[in-house]
Amino acid sequence: MRLYTGLLVHPLAKGGLEYLPDGALVVSDFGQIIFMGARVDALRDYADIPEERYENAVILPGLVDTHVHLPQYEAAAIGTGELLNWLNTYIFPLEARFADEEYAHIQSQRFFHDAVRLGTTTMSVYCSSHRRAADIAFEAAFHAGLRVCMGKTMMDNNAPENILHSPDDNINDSLALAKAWHGAGNGRLQYTLTPRFAGSCSRELLKKTGEAARAEGLRIQTHLSENPSELRFIAELFPEHASYTEVYHAYGLLTAKTIMAHSIYLSPQEKSLLKVHNCAIAHCPCSNRFLQSGVMALRQMLNEGFRIGLGSDVAGGSSLSMLNEAKEAAESTKTWNILHRAQEMPTVNAEEALWLATLGGAQALGLDDVIGNFTVGKDADFIICDMNEVLPQKSSFISPENIISRLVYGAHPYVVSKTVVQGKVVYQKQNSQ
Ligand code: GUN
Ligand code: ZN
Repeated sequence: MRLYTGLLVHPLAKGGLEYLPDGALVVSDFGQIIFMGARVDALRDYADIPEERYENAVILPGLVDTHVHLPQYEAAAIGTGELLNWLNTYIFPLEARFADEEYAHIQSQRFFHDAVRLGTTTMSVYCSSHRRAADIAFEAAFHAGLRVCMGKTMMDNNAPENILHSPDDNINDSLALAKAWHGAGNGRLQYTLTPRFAGSCSRELLKKTGEAARAEGLRIQTHLSENPSELRFIAELFPEHASYTEVYHAYGLLTAKTIMAHSIYLSPQEKSLLKVHNCAIAHCPCSNRFLQSGVMALRQMLNEGFRIGLGSDVAGGSSLSMLNEAKEAAESTKTWNILHRAQEMPTVNAEEALWLATLGGAQALGLDDVIGNFTVGKDADFIICDMNEVLPQKSSFISPENIISRLVYGAHPYVVSKTVVQGKVVYQKQNSQ
C-alpha cells in the first residue's frame, strides 16, 4: 500500500472540483484507491504506511486525451494550411513510413514516453493503417504502462495507395488486433475500431465497421464535421445522405461507444442524432485553430448534455500537453463569444476545463467507472504537479482555485513530477521525490 498526501483536487460527477488542502490518497497493492480524505484520518487509520508528502504541489487525476494520432507525432508543431491539403502534404506521407517496423517502434516509444511525462494517463489513439504498426504501438503502450483505447486507422479511399487496404483486410486486421489486445495489461489496453473519416472510407467499409462494432461491442472513433471544405467533400461523396452525421448513422456507426472528434458544424438534426445514440465528442480546440477549422460551441454543447472530453489531435494540435489543451478549451469559449457577440455565453474557466480533461474524458470514453476522479474503488491514475515549476513564483494568489487557474494557464512542460497509472509509477522526473 502507498499513502500520498498534499493538496488533492479532483472532479465530481455532479460537476465542479473538490479541494482537499490537506488531503490523502491511499492506494492498494493492486493499484486501486482505498481511501481518499483528510490526511489526519489517513495517518491515524494507515499508521503503518510511510507517508509520501508533497508540498507546493497538486495531486490530480491523470489527464485523458480522447483524440490523438500516434503516427503524426513527428509532425507536431510544423506545417501549415487547412485540413485536406495538410493531410495530403504532411500527414499521409508520414503515416506511410509506419510500414517500416523499426521506425514504428521508435516513434511509438517516443510518443508514449512524452505523453506520460506530460501527465497523460489515458489516450484514445489512432495508429497508422498498418496492422503490424498497431501491434507495435500496443506493445509500446503496454511497456509504457499507460491506458489506451486504440486502433489501426481504417481507410480504403481517397489517399495514397500505400496506406489503403481493402474493406475485408481492414476489418479482419482490426478484429485480429482486438483479439490480441482488447483487455490486455490488466484491462488498460482496449481496442477501438478506427475508420479515419467518411472521406477515406467506402460505403462497404463503413457498413462492415458498423457490423463489427455491433458484433464485438467495440468502441468506434472517427472524425466528424471539422472543416468547411471537408463538409463539401463529404456531401459530394455521399449525395444520398442529408448530412455528414447521417452518413455515419446510415452505416450503424452512431453508438454509445462512439467518439466523434471535432463536431464543429452540426445542424440541430445532426445533434439530435448524436444525442439519441449517446455518442461522445472529443473537443480539439488547439487543432481547430491550428488547421483553421473553426470554433466549436463548447458551452452550448455542454448545456445540451453531450459527453465531452478533450483531444490534443496531434498533429492537428501541436502539443501532447492536456493542460495546454484545457487552457485552449477555456480560451476557445472566449473566442466563440468574440465571434458571436450577440449570443454571448458563459465562458469555461480553468476549473471546468480541468474537469473536461479528466472526468469529462473518462466519461467520453466510457471509463468513468474506472478512472476520472478519486472515488474509492477506482484505479489510482494520478499525477503530481510541482507548483515550483509554475511562474510567477511567490504569487500571493494562493487559494486552491487560483492554483488550478495558474496550473492550467501557466502549463509548463515540466510541471508534472510524477505520473501513476493503476498505482504504478510510469514517469518520475529526475531529481524529484
Ligand atoms: N480528418 C481525417 N483525418 C484526419 C486527421 O488525421 N486529422 C484531423 N485533424 N482530421 C482528420
Ligand atoms: Zn484527428
